[in-house]
Amino acid sequence: MGLGRVGLCLSSCFASKGHEVIGADSDANKVEMVNQRKSPIFEPGLQDLLARVVRRGSLRCVTQTEKAVIGSDITFVSVGTPSLRSGGIDLKFVRAAAKDIGRALREKSGYHLVVITSTVTPGTTESIVQPIVEEHSGKRLGEHLGFCMNPEFLREGNAIHDVFHPHLVVIGECDRRSGDQLERFYQTFFDEKIPLMRVNPKTAELIKYANNAFLATKISFVNTIANICGKLPDVDVVTVAKAIGSDPRIGPHFLKAGVGFGGSCLPKDLRALINFARKHCYGAALLKAVSEVNEDQWRRVYELARSKLGGLKGKRIAVLGLAFKPGTDDVRESPSIRLVRELVKARADVVAYDPAAMCNARRIVPRIRYEDSPRKCLEKADCAIVATEWEEFMGLTPEDFSSRMRYPLVIDGRRVYDSREYSKVLDFVAVGLCSDESNCKLDVLR
Ligand code: UGA
Repeated sequence: MGLGRVGLCLSSCFASKGHEVIGADSDANKVEMVNQRKSPIFEPGLQDLLARVVRRGSLRCVTQTEKAVIGSDITFVSVGTPSLRSGGIDLKFVRAAAKDIGRALREKSGYHLVVITSTVTPGTTESIVQPIVEEHSGKRLGEHLGFCMNPEFLREGNAIHDVFHPHLVVIGECDRRSGDQLERFYQTFFDEKIPLMRVNPKTAELIKYANNAFLATKISFVNTIANICGKLPDVDVVTVAKAIGSDPRIGPHFLKAGVGFGGSCLPKDLRALINFARKHCYGAALLKAVSEVNEDQWRRVYELARSKLGGLKGKRIAVLGLAFKPGTDDVRESPSIRLVRELVKARADVVAYDPAAMCNARRIVPRIRYEDSPRKCLEKADCAIVATEWEEFMGLTPEDFSSRMRYPLVIDGRRVYDSREYSKVLDFVAVGLCSDESNCKLDVLR
């Protein structure tokens, strides 16, 4: 249930391994698209896989949940859990799904397992989903009904790979039988031996949040070090990150400094965990700091541009990259979009390019100019900002910038370029490298 990125990828992957999958979503367009063998989202490998399994008849989609539930043994719930103003999560889609499942199960005989893969705060599966399904189905956990919480760790852009090769499968079981059933399902699904942990549902729910919060912490940590490097001539955060990342206790991943983390998961999950802690009378100071550092990070790049150019009004700024990370067309909570919006507010003349995300970006920032190549985007610009580390941008040379721009100021917000090489040819500043402008206004304020 729920044909978002997670639901679509799980459905297609499960179907590719011989399971008969019925995808359910209330969005009739989406359902129609999938049945027509078209992926509604851009995710590497998904289009081919989806087309194959739909053609074969292993995956079909419906708008009526009931049909999907009655015709299956396991229901995976992967509906969205969007942020509320409070930072908490909105469970309306989860509640609606639970109600629909319950109603459908009234008509079904035999055992049915409900698996929550949506990211939900600790207690949701047992205290909200289970009672709703039980009430509407008239059945109880045990003989006819099972519940598991099964968090996913899929990365956008690598989701298909991550479904087939997860680092871990976490099964949060409401009773032993539920866990056994889901474990059996996964045993037949994977070709390789995948570590599996069976825990209670609340633990599984918290594992998901802790996982994303830790990743966010690593990024804000390295960005903090980057901002310190910004004050120190001849010290580069890339070198520092490489060194600390080689300590096996720290590890090399998620230590890339830049404009900060975005996307539909890390920022939202961090807010939800802070909110959850607050509800339990705990301040979670570390998590708040992680969020604060991230809020500042794109602003620093904005301030660099502003102070370097002596104001932004009327200045042409080329923004390379709009997606929250490479390999996706997703612009949700993208630091690049926030930067663009602020530049527009300051009446800069913003020109942008992204290899995949321009269509989505246009919907939320329609009033800027979009170009269909990075080189065109640079024409007559007073400043170029790299905000997403697409491989395409790594192929640009310093001359590509200097020969096209009105004033060759390059701000590397993702550390994609060799600073020594670029500094020789143009005015080059970067996150985590010292420049006169690194003594940013933000630091004076705090
Ligand atoms: C994240 C987690 O990595 C997945 O494990 C999880 O399943 C998923 O959220 C989810 O909850 O569904 P995703 O949102 O696809 O996956 O993106 P990440 O690859 O984690 O990147 C998040 C942000 O951090 C991006 O904006 C990226 O540019 C930034 N980032 C990442 C850095 O700034 N530096 C790094 O070193 C790594």
